Amino acid sequence: MKLAKNTILITGGATGIGFEFAKQLELLGNIVIITGRDKAKLEKAKNKIPNIYIYQSDVSNSEAISILFDKVIKKFPDLNILINNAGIMRTINFHNKGADLEDLTTEININLSGPIRMVKKFLPHLKSKESAAIVNVSSGLAFTPLPQSPVYCATKAGLHSFTQSLRVQLKNTHIKVFELAPPATDTPLLGSFFNDDMKGMTIMKVEEMVAVAIKGMKNDQLEICPGQSNQLKFMSRLAPQFILGQMSKPIDRMLKDTDI
Ligand SMILES: NC(=O)c1ccc[n+]([C@@H]2O[C@H](COP(=O)([O-])OP(=O)(O)OC[C@H]3O[C@@H](n4cnc5c(N)ncnc54)[C@H](OP(=O)(O)O)[C@@H]3O)[C@@H](O)[C@H]2O)c1
Repeated sequence: MKLAKNTILITGGATGIGFEFAKQLELLGNIVIITGRDKAKLEKAKNKIPNIYIYQSDVSNSEAISILFDKVIKKFPDLNILINNAGIMRTINFHNKGADLEDLTTEININLSGPIRMVKKFLPHLKSKESAAIVNVSSGLAFTPLPQSPVYCATKAGLHSFTQSLRVQLKNTHIKVFELAPPATDTPLLGSFFNDDMKGMTIMKVEEMVAVAIKGMKNDQLEICPGQSNQLKFMSRLAPQFILGQMSKPIDRMLKDTDI
């Protein structure tokens, strides 16, 4: 699809992949709007890319999505691309005592319910555009889980499945449904998740990862799996138990120190 002169909304755009999308897409001549929960982070992003527009909004809150929709559509009636990028990742050891049951599913509210509700809210508007797209940012971990982050990986597998269904449901519209499944990428989210146990895995530069994503979108490649994400997908079919074993090394080490 054409990636100039669009009006693009990116959730979670103040840092990492969302911020890099904002930077590269703004440079290509698009109007870019970003959201996030933290106002200070949004303002910092705007200082770096003065032409972008910022809105404080939480994708896990349905009411906030409705308010965001009303504000954004009023100011930007030409909005035609939605990038569902906001996400969080946690380590959760189910042996640990005293878990807060509400808190346990926070990743589901943000990473899965968030994009689903954003799509539902923005869909009638996107349908009215001659050219439109939805980009759901899943993960290579949608194909093979990293068992130290069981809820996160379930959300990404769920988002992968949701995106496939959505693509079928929208096949007779002008809306292209993309899935970007990033590999390990150097952003604040990755933080401590990458360690010595993950030998053989590399971390992709965020600039390069987003450049691959934009190239894929330009070429109408609906499922974009940059770098090692493609290998994870391939291995999940070719040797699922082997690759799960590799991905289990960090939790195996954690389990040694866990009181079971
Ligand atoms: N980095 C990787 O290795 C990697 C690999 C595969 C997939 N991904 C996916 O890529 C996406 C972007 O992550 P990233 O790596 O760029 O990490 P990041 O730098 O932490 O970016 C995530 C952004 O989402 C925002 N966010 C979090 N919860 C939100 C909410 N409830 N509502 C609105 N915004 C929210 C955060 O800002 P606030 O905290 O201010 O809200 C933050 O700016 C995520 O979906 C992640 O799962 C990342």
